[in-house]
Amino acid sequence: LKIKVSIIAGGAGFIGSNLIRYLQSEKRHIVVIDNMCRGSKSFLNSVLSLDRHSISILEGDCADQDFLHGAFILANEFGDLDEVWHLAANSDIPAGIADANVDLKDTFLTTFALLEVMKRFKVSTINFASSSAIYGDFGGVPIYEEIGPLLPISNYGAMKLASEALISAAVESYLERANIFRFPNVVGIPATHGVILDFVRKLIVKPECLMVLGDGSQQKAYLHVSDLIEAMLLVRSARLSKKIELVNIGPIDHGVSVRSIAEWVVERVSPTASIQYGEGNKGWVGDVSKFSYSTKRLQSYGWTPKLDSAGAVNKAINEIALQLGQ
Ligand SMILES: NC(=O)c1ccc[n+]([C@@H]2O[C@H](COP(=O)([O-])OP(=O)(O)OC[C@H]3O[C@@H](n4cnc5c(N)ncnc54)[C@H](O)[C@@H]3O)[C@@H](O)[C@H]2O)c1
Repeated sequence: LKIKVSIIAGGAGFIGSNLIRYLQSEKRHIVVIDNMCRGSKSFLNSVLSLDRHSISILEGDCADQDFLHGAFILANEFGDLDEVWHLAANSDIPAGIADANVDLKDTFLTTFALLEVMKRFKVSTINFASSSAIYGDFGGVPIYEEIGPLLPISNYGAMKLASEALISAAVESYLERANIFRFPNVVGIPATHGVILDFVRKLIVKPECLMVLGDGSQQKAYLHVSDLIEAMLLVRSARLSKKIELVNIGPIDHGVSVRSIAEWVVERVSPTASIQYGEGNKGWVGDVSKFSYSTKRLQSYGWTPKLDSAGAVNKAINEIALQLGQ
């Protein structure tokens, strides 16, 4: 029997490097494709030490179809390539507001190119990392999957929504299954971006004072990366009559405020620091300041997270502080 092969586009990043461990336990061969713009080979050291032979790492751009073609040929040589996890994207929302090309290339054209090459190689399944950013700003009311109209307020959200649309069209013509996962804020290590990493880094540079973007009232849902991956694997394993499944993944609570996160980070990293808040309820242009998910659909799969938002954030604060030597 041929061994199953998974491609993880963006597999050297935060979530991808965590996902590998779970796929290793399914005895799959894993082909990581990453241009290392934010990911790092060093994030893969622990999974390589578990089983070096189950992973191939290819450095290159997922928006480049010729490069992908070569990568898919190699993946097919290891066995039966039956799925792609598409996690490659620009994960820095403000960077995409400053230069729209960033999200066009890294968030949208990666999806376009991967789908084109999946079609060529007849790969049946895509697992796509979408985002709460596709919804835009609903002012904090619980957002369920069918809510609309979808009016993203960042280029990142716009390019994720456009990617979902392309995947939907691909399902109509050639894909057998697409799992579209709309992530909340995901926390844990190895952190590459996000509010906790930002606060810890700032306190290392300036231990006496933490400057917060916005007035700290922003309220969002956070999920620990381990809970996120377990939810994705549960949905992926479900036998469904439909070809496309679309789920919000998030905690069952209404989230925690940036003010609470700032206080918890200060307490862990630099307890005597003062906290200075900015003005307005947005951290940056394109920031959705109040965000809450309905996760009823995911719960219907029998899933509940092990950690709520506060638990996930506090666990990640400790992990990220240790990651940065604190
Ligand atoms: N972490 C979160 O809170 C969160 C929330 C919503 C959605 N997501 C999505 O989940 C996915 C993974 O996020 P993450 O937190 O692990 O981010 P990350 O930045 O750590 O990982 C993304 C990886 O993709 C790679 N990459 C980017 N552009 C590429 C390109 N053109 N070609 C090849 N590789 C490329 C980066 O080097 C990085 O390793 C992303 O699609 C992100 O948009 C993450």
